[in-house]
Amino acid sequence: MKLFIDTANIEEIKEINDWGVINGVTTNPSLIVKEGRDFVEVIKEITSIVDGPISAEVISLKSEEMVQEALELSKIHKNVVIKVPMTDEGLKAVKVLSSKSIKTNVTLVFSANQALLAAKAGASYVSPFVGRMDDIGNEGINIIEDIITIFDIHGLETEVISASIRHPMHVLDSAKAGAHISTIPYKVFKDMLKHPMTDIGIEKFLKDWEGAK
Ligand code: E4P
Repeated sequence: MKLFIDTANIEEIKEINDWGVINGVTTNPSLIVKEGRDFVEVIKEITSIVDGPISAEVISLKSEEMVQEALELSKIHKNVVIKVPMTDEGLKAVKVLSSKSIKTNVTLVFSANQALLAAKAGASYVSPFVGRMDDIGNEGINIIEDIITIFDIHGLETEVISASIRHPMHVLDSAKAGAHISTIPYKVFKDMLKHPMTDIGIEKFLKDWEGAK
């Protein structure tokens, strides 16, 4: 499973990229606004750090306007992937963009049928939101399992990005369910790294080492 980082914060991206574990980046309008910087500048800077797919989301709700935005965003760098919302207009935009070989990530997916439609329209990626499904009392991970099952049975090549990840168990469960990618916030990467037994082990090794002198 590939790991993406879900942030528009340059320092966070640099830090986790230095670990050698990330294959791409996802952003969304909320994450971009949090940085208080120009959208295009942020995306451009991210492409200079991570050599992999970088999702940048369109704001328009009409397909023609989404396509226009996408054409501009895709000029930033060859790795830019256009994030499009899961609507009928979004699907129309995906169809046009895929015919132009522009990669798309259909976002705000909350059902396996939505993912099926996105894949049929030609999406390169679909992003089911696991955490937000949990928030409304569903077992978010089930949607990942369903989508992977359907895509496998029918040979659909769209990659599944397990999104809206809130804690390390979401990553583990996504990996077990066969998600191709998990897009993980900075804090969850840090939580995945830490284990108290590792810290205790290091402390003991160093104490023994010093004691032998
Ligand atoms: C996906 O690409 C989205 O940016 C993200 O995972 C949304 O997560 P949230 O539900 O924590 O906002």
